[in-house]
Amino acid sequence: METISPDRPGPARPNRAGLAQLLNLLRPSFTRHRLRLAGGLTALIVVDFLQLIIPRIIKHGVDGLAALTISRDDLLRLAMLVIVIAIAVATLRFVWRYLIFGFSRLLEESLRNRIFSHLLRMDAPFFERHTPGDLMAHSSNDLAAVQMACGMGLVAAADALVMSVATIIFMLHIHVQLTLLALLPMPFLAWFTRSLAGRLHHRFTTVQEQFSLLTEFSRSAVISIRLIKAYTMERFQAAAMASLGRQYVKSNIAVAFIQGLISPIATLAGNLGMLIILFVGGRLVITGILTMGDFVAFISYLAMLVWPMMAIGWVANIVQRGLTSLNRIHHLLISQSALPDIADRGEPPLLRPSFSLRGLTFKYAPDLQPALGDIDLEIGPGIHGITGRTGSGKSTLCRLLARLYPVPDGLIYFGDRDVNTLPPAFVRRHIAYVGQEPILFSDTVAANIALGRPEATEEEIIEAARSAAIDDEIRDLPDGYATLIGERGVKLSGGQRQRLALARALLCKRPVLVIDDGLSAVDVATEHEVFAGLRQRFADRTVLIVSNRIKMLSLTDRIVVLDEGRIVCAGGHDELLAASTLYRSMYDKQMRPQAGEEAGG
Ligand SMILES: Nc1ncnc2c1ncn2[C@@H]1O[C@H](COP(=O)(O)OP(=O)(O)O)[C@@H](O)[C@H]1O
Ligand SMILES: [Mg+2]
Repeated sequence: METISPDRPGPARPNRAGLAQLLNLLRPSFTRHRLRLAGGLTALIVVDFLQLIIPRIIKHGVDGLAALTISRDDLLRLAMLVIVIAIAVATLRFVWRYLIFGFSRLLEESLRNRIFSHLLRMDAPFFERHTPGDLMAHSSNDLAAVQMACGMGLVAAADALVMSVATIIFMLHIHVQLTLLALLPMPFLAWFTRSLAGRLHHRFTTVQEQFSLLTEFSRSAVISIRLIKAYTMERFQAAAMASLGRQYVKSNIAVAFIQGLISPIATLAGNLGMLIILFVGGRLVITGILTMGDFVAFISYLAMLVWPMMAIGWVANIVQRGLTSLNRIHHLLISQSALPDIADRGEPPLLRPSFSLRGLTFKYAPDLQPALGDIDLEIGPGIHGITGRTGSGKSTLCRLLARLYPVPDGLIYFGDRDVNTLPPAFVRRHIAYVGQEPILFSDTVAANIALGRPEATEEEIIEAARSAAIDDEIRDLPDGYATLIGERGVKLSGGQRQRLALARALLCKRPVLVIDDGLSAVDVATEHEVFAGLRQRFADRTVLIVSNRIKMLSLTDRIVVLDEGRIVCAGGHDELLAASTLYRSMYDKQMRPQAGEEAGG
């Protein structure tokens, strides 16, 4: 495993996978619901044949009327027959719609679940390569296109095939030459729809791409609305959005142009056939070769043929869309997480785990500078402080321990095992991680704290909140622990959010606690209180605290100073004051502000 991160953003239009590969994605659903499908398609075919019988009944009536040989009772009998057939057609049409459209929804559901659980398994670099807009397009547009192809597309294809073949057989049965003449425009129609479908596919891909751009743009604008307002960028953003929207509409109109062409052309071809029947077939009636009834039936059949002919163009179009989307879904599903794919057997965490980093060098991508270089570090029980300037690699170190990014073999050991030989989830189960940016959900305070242990009791939640020094403030909220927070509820301050995130981590009771700058917005006195709590609770456990506050660092057992991805110094507070200029200067700035000011002035 030399390359740590797969190639950067893939091609916008992924190469077309083999058809068999794409259809394989659908196979499980087709197999599971085969009875439903078989029932639906049978009903569909029966409906087609029943419909074809009606012109034959009308032919009997017309011929009888023309010869004046038909009685009132015969007419009534024919009419009753038509009614019975019509009712059967209506019933069976309901049956196939219910069964096949239902099937397409079931297929969509299983594909959606597959995509979603695949996404959940992906590593962090994957989410840096794919924007949320891209991923949302997969789960809305692409799924809808596949569902459409497997529902409406399947129905129209089966219907068009059965209908056209059967109709042509019935027409041939009446008069062979007339049938061939009436069908003359049809090959032209087939050729035309084929060429249009090719163009349509191309334009549709553009529409999909622009939709994803648009979604991503509006999403990021809404998320960063405060920033946009603070910089009074509303007008600029609106203009950018309008321009994206204009391009999206333009591409959609280009698609509509072609879609609009398909149906008029098909109708025109049908009407040309009608002209031929009127002219040639009419003469056959005059010369007595065809009966009046045959003539009327023939016209009904040709009218019935127009829809399947249109459907062929239309099916080509939905199938094209479906395949384009299926191809994108396929590429999503074959993208692999670069983390080791070792099945997690749910083993309970170790009580006293330790990490050892042996010459760890890490790059986010092959063409980037290393974010960490030559790190040798043992992280066992005790409180470890990590400090260093912004961009020195502190967060990267925490993320690697939490197994968010893939690393080459032989650099990180968990106990005496290379982490690449362990299921990533097993390693993660040991770590309660508090990130730089606390992520809270639109839910109650209690639910946010209990995220990692939904089964936690009320007492446990309160205890965790108390250890994170946030219990009092939660009780002051309008509904205490039941207060809704986040987008639809109470807004919390940065420090409160951070302490909630800490309470969440503490509740997990995991043997390792990693706080990546997670107390930066908490005031110093509260931080002290939290730290004292940690000392007590985590006496024999492992705590890793990333911080730039000397007061905090001085309380830890051992401090590591990072600079440009390398360890420049490690040791106790007093040792570092003597040995590290970087640490010394941080100390001077924070602990002796007046000295710092004098130096600055
Ligand atoms: N997701 C990422 N992709 C590429 N480079 C990154 C990523 N995250 C961080 N970096 C780079 O890695 C280096 C270390 O960053 P980081 O670990 O976040 O530093 P710190 O937490 O000490 O501020 C920086 O140069 C930063 O630009
Ligand atoms: Mg950081």
